[in-house]
Amino acid sequence: MKQLSTKSRIIDSIKRFKTVFFDFLDNFEYFLLFEKYSFTRESSMTTVQLRMQLRRHIHAFEVSQTYRQGKHDRALTTVLNINKLVKLSEDLLPASDPIIDEAINCIHLFLKKTTIDSAQLQKINLLHEINLRKSNTNSEPVDVTVLHGIPSSYNSEVYQNLVTSRRSVRSFSSSATNLNFKIVQESVQQAIYSPSACNRQPWKVYYLKSDKAKQACLKIQNNSGSSWRNTASLLLVLVDIQCYGGSREKHAPYIDGGLFSMTLIHSLHSKGVDTCPLNLNLKTKQIKLLQKNLGLPPNLAPIMLIAFGLRESDSALAIPKGQRTNFQELLHEI
Ligand SMILES: Cc1cc2nc3c(=O)[nH]c(=O)nc-3n(C[C@H](O)[C@H](O)[C@H](O)COP(=O)(O)O)c2cc1C
Repeated sequence: MKQLSTKSRIIDSIKRFKTVFFDFLDNFEYFLLFEKYSFTRESSMTTVQLRMQLRRHIHAFEVSQTYRQGKHDRALTTVLNINKLVKLSEDLLPASDPIIDEAINCIHLFLKKTTIDSAQLQKINLLHEINLRKSNTNSEPVDVTVLHGIPSSYNSEVYQNLVTSRRSVRSFSSSATNLNFKIVQESVQQAIYSPSACNRQPWKVYYLKSDKAKQACLKIQNNSGSSWRNTASLLLVLVDIQCYGGSREKHAPYIDGGLFSMTLIHSLHSKGVDTCPLNLNLKTKQIKLLQKNLGLPPNLAPIMLIAFGLRESDSALAIPKGQRTNFQELLHEI
């Protein structure tokens, strides 16, 4: 290793300290932003936060219905939570909101499947709530679990081909902008099947159709020298941080958003549309600028950009091979 002089080492340390210090301040600003929008005090819940809380507890109820043993306590707790939120929702959500139907269905299902005595029922005051909102529900509750299996017609080679044939393309035909928006819609519809923590589905996707929006975004992404991005169409994937319960979950948007983006990219690829994920390692002040330039609300955290389009004719196209490491280097048993 090259030995640096004492003076160079000191200068190097100062530079590193400055970087770390400003990164720390920036992370702290993000932390505050996250805390502001994700904090879910009952007294000041937004409609999105309320829906998210309901979604979490509905999810927990669904999971409780898949347990073979000991599901009663867990189900009861979740039903009580759902019940409380349905009550809270009276002022915040219209009775016609589909999530209210889902919530009440869980309560109905629980009551249908579980024997609880009337004292308990009274104590948890379920009937009162159900009667209040009964007009929204069908009389028979619908089961919240499905028997799941891979369809017998499924051929795993199809998936193998899909995964191994995808490559990041950085050369799009200029007519790519004429790409049928229906393809994007279908792909987003498929990407909704991505997993997300507590099934919160916190995603938002913006198709940056206008040149103004596209340039506003690319300028901040600042990948200078990549003029190919101008011929691509752009999707901006964001996550609503109101869906999260406080700063403890501050990394969750990137996991949920990353998984969603991967499905979206594979879905577009399966339809013959090429993509290239683009970094959005933005500082908090850049996030704010992006939100301002695109007219986005401050609770939407940008995850990544996906450049997409139709590749230039094959003969003109060179794509990095993207050599892969040997799987044994990354797969371990302990
Ligand atoms: C989060 C993320 C950010 C990326 N950012 C860029 C980028 O800013 N510019 C770019 O040309 N490629 C970008 N890529 C594409 C990677 O370079 C590419 O996925 C990698 O080299 C593997 O090649 P492949 O996608 O063709 O298999 C990004 C990929 C990911 C997952």
